[in-house]
Amino acid sequence: MIKKSFCIANWKMYLSYDESIEYMNTFMEFSLDSNKSTEIIFCPSYLSINDIAKYNFPSVISVGSQDMSIYGKGAYTGEVSIEDLETIGCKWCVIGHSERRTLFNESDDMINIKLKSIFNSNINPILCIGETLEEMNNGQTVDVLNKQITSAFKGINIDSNKTILIAYEPVWSIGTGISADLDTILTNINIIKNITENIIKNHCNIYMLYGGSVSKENAKSIISIDGVDGFLIGSASIKPESFYSIYKEFL
Ligand code: PGA
Repeated sequence: MIKKSFCIANWKMYLSYDESIEYMNTFMEFSLDSNKSTEIIFCPSYLSINDIAKYNFPSVISVGSQDMSIYGKGAYTGEVSIEDLETIGCKWCVIGHSERRTLFNESDDMINIKLKSIFNSNINPILCIGETLEEMNNGQTVDVLNKQITSAFKGINIDSNKTILIAYEPVWSIGTGISADLDTILTNINIIKNITENIIKNHCNIYMLYGGSVSKENAKSIISIDGVDGFLIGSASIKPESFYSIYKEFL
């Protein structure tokens, strides 16, 4: 049996509403390989999610959010709740992206609150973790990954209905054009698996993704690494042709 894999487009704040719709119209013309067990996930901006989720997608395409509020419905100006995301048809939600952690001061505690809310919803998490360049150079990668994973799942009663995607995204490789080398990805994915297995004892669907300057050029070699179940793709996902060319590299 071919293991399920995930090809995820994180559009960040690159595409306007009109550009997002135009993108989807183009992408829907591309043929998808029914022999692949690859799920394609689009994560548009909040503004575009609602209309994109209404597309008549084949079952291999679904929609996620790039983030969510730590609060439920209420007096929280500018926020978007997990309940709303669920109602408009989001199946996934990215949490803990390094841009949220560094630019918007999101702490491990906030990511833990978000993950708890996700576990009380029908949405599945895409949890991002990864070390900075300084942490890597100081030999702190294992400690950082351990802390990020352990604190994210703290106090969560993990049931087996969820699909959990964990994206290893070294901060120094995001948007830089420099992806981690294959040995580093293999080593760190195995470290993450060990940490995760120690925390999540229940049987549930956990998949390991890589993110950080994934491109058409490096996609094939990275997806061939044992233990890598897919990609979280930023810059190379904002043009439909480029994202599709990466999807085609999936086995
Ligand atoms: P990138 O971004 O592909 O542009 O490096 C990845 C991400 O931020 O998830």
